[in-house]
Amino acid sequence: MIQTIIAGVGSCLPRRIMTNDDLAKLVDTSDAWITERTGIKARHIAADDETTKSLAVEACKRALAHAKMDASEIDLIILATSTPDHTFPATATEVQEALGITQGAAFDVQAVCSGFIFALATADAMLKTGQAKNALVIGSETFSRILDWADRGTCVLFGDGAGAFVLRAEQGEAGRGILASKLRSDGRYRDKLYVDGGPSTTKTVGLLRMEGREVFKHAVVNMAEIVEQVAVAAGVKVADINCFVPHQANKRILDATAKKLGVSPERFVITVDKHGNTSAASIPLAFDVGLAEGKIKRGDLVLMEAMGGGFTWGAIVARY
Ligand code: UT7
Repeated sequence: MIQTIIAGVGSCLPRRIMTNDDLAKLVDTSDAWITERTGIKARHIAADDETTKSLAVEACKRALAHAKMDASEIDLIILATSTPDHTFPATATEVQEALGITQGAAFDVQAVCSGFIFALATADAMLKTGQAKNALVIGSETFSRILDWADRGTCVLFGDGAGAFVLRAEQGEAGRGILASKLRSDGRYRDKLYVDGGPSTTKTVGLLRMEGREVFKHAVVNMAEIVEQVAVAAGVKVADINCFVPHQANKRILDATAKKLGVSPERFVITVDKHGNTSAASIPLAFDVGLAEGKIKRGDLVLMEAMGGGFTWGAIVARY
C-alpha cells in the first residue's frame, strides 16, 4: 500500500510586523478590542517585493531542506491561495519555475481559508493513486492586498505568510502519514465571506467583505462536526489526538471548538496572536511553529482543520 508521508515542513513570513497599536493609527480600533475579540496581537504584512509567489518559494526551500530532498525530486505542486500573483497562470507554475522544476504538474487550489486542507487532500489522493511520487503542498497568501483598510471589522483580522509541506509516497504498512481527510462546502453561505470583485464581473480584484458574526457561528459547529467525522474515518479517537493544528482565525473560535470537543486547549497549536488570520497559509505556518516548539513530534497523531469562505471546511488526520 502507498502511504503519504509528511517528509518536511517550512514556512516564511514577511519582514514587516504590524501591531494592534500600529492599526489603531489607521482605523478607530484599539489593542484591547482586537485582543479581547480575536486574540490577535500582531500580523506580518508583505512589502511590495514580497508576493504570494516569493513567500511560497522561500517556504518550499525551507520545507525541502527539512525533508533533506532536492527540488528536482518533486513531481507535483499544489498551491492553495485566494491571492495569486496573477489571475493566471497559477502561482504554482510560477513557484515551479522559480524552483527549477521542469517535470510533473503544478496547479492552484482555491478554497479560501480551507485551501490548504483541500490541497493536502488532493495531493494525498494523487500520491496514493500513483499519479506522483513527491509533492509540494503550499498555502501562501497576501490578504493585505485585498483588505479594505478603512473597514475596522476586517482589516484588523488578517496577515500575510506562507507554509509548505513536502509529501513523499512510500510503500508500507497502513497507519503512517495521512490517515483520512474530509472535505465539505456549502455555497448557500457564499455572501457571508467574499471578495467583491473578479475578472468576470467587475474586472477588478475587489476587496474582502465579511459578516463576522455569521462566520463565527458556523465555524464552531462545522469544525467540531468535521473533526469527529475525520477521526471516525481515520479509525482514531479524538481523545487520542496528540496535537491539533487548526486554521488560525480567532482565538475564541479555537477555544470554543476545543471546549465542544472536550479537548484541552493546550493540545492546540496557537499562532493567531502573532500571525493573525493568514487564510490558506495558517495551517502549515502553525505546523512549523508546532514543530519548533516541540508540540509536534515524529509519530504523533496530528489533526488539521479549517473553515473559510464558500463556506468550505475540512479536516485531515495524519500520523506525523
Ligand atoms: O477564516 C475564517 C474567516 N473569519 C472568521 O472566522 C471570523 C469570524 N468572526 C469573528 O472572528 C468575529 O465575529 C469578529 C472578530 C470579526 C468580530 O467580533 P464580534 O464579537 O462578532 O463583533 P461584532 O462584529 O458583532 O461587532 C461588535 C462591535 C460593533 O460595534 P456596535 O455596533 O456594537 O457599536 C462593531 O462596529 O464592535 C465594533 N467593531 C470594532 N470596534 C473596535 C468591529 N470591529 C472593530 C474593531 N475595533 N476593529
